[in-house]
Amino acid sequence: MAIPCKNSRTSMFFLILSLGLCLVITSAELQRFDHPAKQDGSLSFLVVGDWGRRGDFNQSQVAFQMGKIGEKLDIDFVVSTGDNFYDNGLTSEHDTAFEESFTKIYTEKSLQKQWYSVLGNHDYRGDAEAQLSPLLRKIDSRWLCLRSFIVNTELAEIFFVDTTPLVDKYFTNADEHTYDWRGIAPRKAYIANLLKDVELALKKSSAKWKIVVGHHAIRSVGHHGDTQELINQLLPILRVNDVDFYMNGHDHCLEHVSDLESPIQFLTSGAGSKAWRGDVKELNKEGLNFFYDGQGFMSVKLNPTDAEIAFYDVYGKVLHRLNASKQLHPSI
Ligand SMILES: *[C@@H]1O[C@H](CO)[C@@H](O)[C@H](O)[C@H]1NC(C)=O
Ligand SMILES: *[C@@H]1O[C@H](CO)[C@@H](O)[C@H](O)[C@H]1NC(C)=O
Repeated sequence: MAIPCKNSRTSMFFLILSLGLCLVITSAELQRFDHPAKQDGSLSFLVVGDWGRRGDFNQSQVAFQMGKIGEKLDIDFVVSTGDNFYDNGLTSEHDTAFEESFTKIYTEKSLQKQWYSVLGNHDYRGDAEAQLSPLLRKIDSRWLCLRSFIVNTELAEIFFVDTTPLVDKYFTNADEHTYDWRGIAPRKAYIANLLKDVELALKKSSAKWKIVVGHHAIRSVGHHGDTQELINQLLPILRVNDVDFYMNGHDHCLEHVSDLESPIQFLTSGAGSKAWRGDVKELNKEGLNFFYDGQGFMSVKLNPTDAEIAFYDVYGKVLHRLNASKQLHPSI
């Protein structure tokens, strides 16, 4: 009679084990995409943000220079830091702004690569789900936009984080604009899950370079300044998990700020079209290395020991460079 008892205990054990596994699996929800680095073990890509204006405000000039630098660096893909379509995202997956601001603008040969995009706050003012739709990938196969996901190149892992739902003012002072919060509610649970997923994925990563991409800046001296919600909730996770770079848009400028408490470098590339706002925050300038108020973009070149990052203006002129090394501390 002891045997069935033992069996039921064993099956109880397996039930608990599989429930446990199930929980682990459901919390590791971030979708992953493999994008192998080059044969020689290097990887390069461009980063642009805040761009979709049917070519206006120098968007086309920035696109042309991205094409030239993209060719020179033989880029593997392009990263978009969000605010993909102005002023209010896309109206639907049939909105012609998709082709007028993306397909017909980034026409250079070197830019015919995969684009990985997050959503910005302006994208949430339209039909946010339209940008995530597989139909857009049929219209232009370069397009891939999801809320939060991971691109794994082995050399580097890039964690794309949906930052808009973390920012309180879009929920508390939303009178001016309407936001498409489908898929976000309940907000508290959405944020908690997102942060848990990001933390878990960062912890598990064995990539040489860990890069996090979001729309909102953690640190910025531009118009919008620091994002306190990200400083409080996201930054601590990045600091303890050896993240090398945090890349964002939102402020329509180019900037490089160093974290004073970790090796993290904050890199803003939100200058894909309208810029020249003319108001630099005199507030928190700690760690500021570079700020440019005009249009442009950023390039990233990685190998197992070195990272080279550069910022360019509308003429393709290099405005600022930074190098980081895996053997030494980042040399700025
Ligand atoms: C386009 O770029 C040039 C060079 O930076 C700048 O002088 C001009 O004001 C820009 N145009 C707009 C609309 O921002
Ligand atoms: C970064 O590294 C490259 C390649 O080794 C070098 O040409 C460049 O001068 C370095 N730049 C800085 C700012 O250290």
